Amino acid sequence: MLTYRQANAGDYLEIAKLHVKSWQQHYRGDFSDHFLDVEAASERKEVWKDRLSNPSPNQFVLVAEQDGEICGFACAFLEGDAEYGTLLDNLHVLAKVKGKGIGRHLISLVAQEALKNNPEGKLYLWVLKNNASAMAFYERLGGVNGETVVGNDIGDQEVLKCRVTWESLKVLAHW
Ligand SMILES: CC(C)(COP(=O)(O)OP(=O)(O)OC[C@H]1O[C@@H](n2cnc3c(N)ncnc32)[C@H](O)[C@@H]1OP(=O)(O)O)[C@@H](O)C(=O)NCCC(=O)NCCS
Repeated sequence: MLTYRQANAGDYLEIAKLHVKSWQQHYRGDFSDHFLDVEAASERKEVWKDRLSNPSPNQFVLVAEQDGEICGFACAFLEGDAEYGTLLDNLHVLAKVKGKGIGRHLISLVAQEALKNNPEGKLYLWVLKNNASAMAFYERLGGVNGETVVGNDIGDQEVLKCRVTWESLKVLAHW
């Protein structure tokens, strides 16, 4: 059975493992092999331990669970930006359960939470320019591909990343 819930402190290891596995499968080339295969596991473990044990007041983390296994997660920072609204910082679904509506449901639950916080709320995220598959998914859900910038705040080398925005969350929240 597939269920969705907010993450708790005990989830940090499972989320970190899923995050690293997804990066290894989808971000190779944008992140170095050394970072992905040697450093990412401990880096993500620390990040998720800290996020889930000392959450910032606007952090909202959801997991999708199937038969006791976390198979997807989303991490958002509500109203993280004065202009663009809530930041969807991470969204990853295990490869074996992709295409079953889990990504859409997670982003829809984030949109619902953002709207509770601000009925006029907006949403944005950054996606690697090379991640055409995720971009197609976001565009399918009504996201608008905006500016492309060079970033060095994720991974271990400079990447090109695109801002995707939703000006209104009403459709997304009720998908
Ligand atoms: C991107 C991702 C989160 C999508 O989650 P998902 O559960 O596989 O997607 P869903 O099943 O919810 O798809 C929702 C809709 O988007 C469409 N879609 C999903 N992936 C797509 C793709 N690669 N190309 C085009 N459309 C796509 C689906 O067909 C569906 O539309 P439909 O209702 O018309 O059939 C997931 O594939 C993933 O984890 N990818 C790897 C990590 C990643 O890149 N994350 C994004 C970081 S910015």
